[in-house]
This record gives sequence, C-alpha cells and structure tokens, in this order.
Amino acid sequence: MENNKPLGLTPAMGWNSWNTFTWDINEQLIRDVADLFVSEGYKDAGYEYIVIDDCWSLKERDSAGNLVADPAKFPSGMRALADYIHEKGLKFGMYSCVGTHTCAGYPGSFEHEFQDARLFAEWGVDFLKYDYCFKPRHISGELLYKRMSLALKNCGRDILFSACNWGEDNVYQWIRESGAHMYRSTVDIQDHWDSIKKLALSQLDKECYTGSFCHNDLDMLVVGMYGGSNNNFIASQIGGCNDNEYKTHFALWSMMGSPLMIGCDIRKANQATKDILMNKDLIAINQDLEGRGAYRIKPEPQWFHAEDVFMLVKVLSDGDIAVGFFNLSDRQREISLLFWDIGLPYASGTSLSLYDCWEQKEIGVFKERFSPVVPAHDCLVVRAKLV
Ligand code: GLA
Repeated sequence: MENNKPLGLTPAMGWNSWNTFTWDINEQLIRDVADLFVSEGYKDAGYEYIVIDDCWSLKERDSAGNLVADPAKFPSGMRALADYIHEKGLKFGMYSCVGTHTCAGYPGSFEHEFQDARLFAEWGVDFLKYDYCFKPRHISGELLYKRMSLALKNCGRDILFSACNWGEDNVYQWIRESGAHMYRSTVDIQDHWDSIKKLALSQLDKECYTGSFCHNDLDMLVVGMYGGSNNNFIASQIGGCNDNEYKTHFALWSMMGSPLMIGCDIRKANQATKDILMNKDLIAINQDLEGRGAYRIKPEPQWFHAEDVFMLVKVLSDGDIAVGFFNLSDRQREISLLFWDIGLPYASGTSLSLYDCWEQKEIGVFKERFSPVVPAHDCLVVRAKLV
C-alpha cells in the first residue's frame, strides 16, 4: 500500500543500518532488508523508510566536489539502490552531517549543503538523517539545520529531514521552525535496559515539544538486538535485553510519539521480535493522526513511587485514550489509575472499557479506577473507550 500522507505528518517508521552494522554495510544488505520488509509484513505494518547511516561514502569528494558512494560497498550506485527500494513501494534514506566530517570521519555537508541536497534528490533519496559531529565552532548549529532544511525543501524532491543534534543547544526551542520533520533529543541508545530507561525518563515532561510534522526522536530501536551489534559503543554493556524489556522499550517509544526506526538485523529476527515490532495496536497509537503528546501521571500514593513508575496517557483522534502503565523499577508494582486524573469524574456516569494492546484482548469495563500489577521492567498498554 502506497503511503500518500504529507511528509512527516506522523512519526517516521523504518529501518536504519547503524545500531547493528555501523561501517559494515553494503547494497546486498539493504536489498535484503527491502525484500524482508515486503515478505515478512513490515511494510504492511507501516514501516517504509530504509536508511543507510554513516560510512557509505568514500573519504574524499570527487573533483566536482560531489560525495561519492563507496564502490566496494555499493557497486551499483545509489540511484540503482533507490530504484530497487522504490519498486517495492518503499522509501530510501541516507545520512550526512552538519559538520566538515561525519561522526565516523567521512565527508560532511558543511558548505556543500545545496550541492549535496541536489545530489540526494538525483539519487532518489526520500529521507536525510543529519548528524552533529565536527561542527565548526564559529557557526551555530541552529543555522546549519535551517540551511540544510532550506536546501532540501528546494531540491526538487520531497525529502524527510531527520535532525540529529542529540538534544543539544536547546533544540526544542528552534527545531520546529527550522523545518525538520523529526529531531533527536537524546544521546545514542545502547542495547541495554539502563540506556532505554535513561532515554525515556529524560523525555518525560517534554510532551509539548512533539507533534505532527516535528517529532521528538528518542533514537533508533534496539528491539531484537540481543547484544548482537558490531558497534562497540552500542554493545558496550554486554547482554542486550530480554523480550519484556524490548516490549517496554517499544511501548515507550510508541506512546511518546517517537519515530520507530528498527535497528536490529531483521534477517535474523525471531517471532518475539516480529510480534513486538509489528504490534498493530501499539503502532496505531504511535501513528494516531492528531499526533498528541502523551502526558505523565504519577500513581498514588505519590510519596511511595519513584520517578521510574508512571503512567503515560495519550488522547487519540477517535476519542479513545491510550494508557501505558510503566514499571521501569526493579520490583513488581501496583499502578493505580484514578479516572478522575484523566478528566473522568465518577459523577459523569461514564466507565472505561479496556483493551489490552499486548495481549490483544478485552480486559473488561471499569468504573472510577483500574489498578493493574505490573512486573519489574514491564508494562501494560490499554486502549480505553468511554462507555
Ligand atoms: C552519531 C549518531 C548516531 C549515528 C552515528 C554515526 O553518534 O547519533 O545515531 O548516526 O553518529 O556515526
């Protein structure tokens, strides 16, 4: 199914090469991912962008100043790869950087912004991730994001602009006006529970800074990696996560309106990984058209719970309410939702009919409160209907 939504309306969904493969990328891998997107159902679930991250080019530009795809990794060239991806009804993403070099030391787009945007358009690129390494000190990052945004908007092709300045320089205050469709707000994720927890907690209370056409990006997903990355930084805390932790990770990113960019090797994905990544109820919450941020409620009694036990509430376009009960702590917890706290007093005479998005079944009808017990590092996500 072709996606005709305006560029950046809902959080981008796709796959990115960095978390698992870093420098070890080539055109066959990208083609394999495109094939699997179609054959395994990722495309039908909503995933569309296939993004090549850092390390795709030669270390020098050519004599005309153009970036050159590394012929050893991409012998057929980027245009051919884009065509392959487009023929499958998918979209093609690439990577560059604000600075003189990318984070891995390849040429960046500084002072080549308009030239590079034209080249990306010629190659058929649909998405550009734009990193923040090697930025010259004399010039502001804000200006350089505005510059590339302008270059992309005038390059003759619709290219989704994915800013990646890791939440620095008060990015929240200027990114929406810059024209970026999504922006990284955090340091790089690691395939480890502590990292997932730290990134999620860092973005609570930032719900007013995300929404349609400019989504807060909590970084690529580590779901299904199980410690298997050739990236020393991402894998530095050995062991990966268990499936419950990956489930909680996916629920947090979905509820918080983050883009959903898969980072594992989907050629090896097991059933548990696929079930998480393609959960249609979680994806529907993430892709809800009104794109509202999720607000946090602390469970009662508030003195008892630390900040790692909370609910996220997201009002959906059809009047339903998504509620995530998150227990990021190390002990089982009861997490009590008082309906009063989401604007539903007892006197309204209204109850909530609850549907469990992970188990994909109705839980029942509740009045006044709902108090599930949630195991450590786990979550429950319900879609609530007023009845
Ligand atoms: C930065 C970004 C990562 C990745 C690498 C590539 O660290 O935050 O997501 O793109 O650069 O070098």
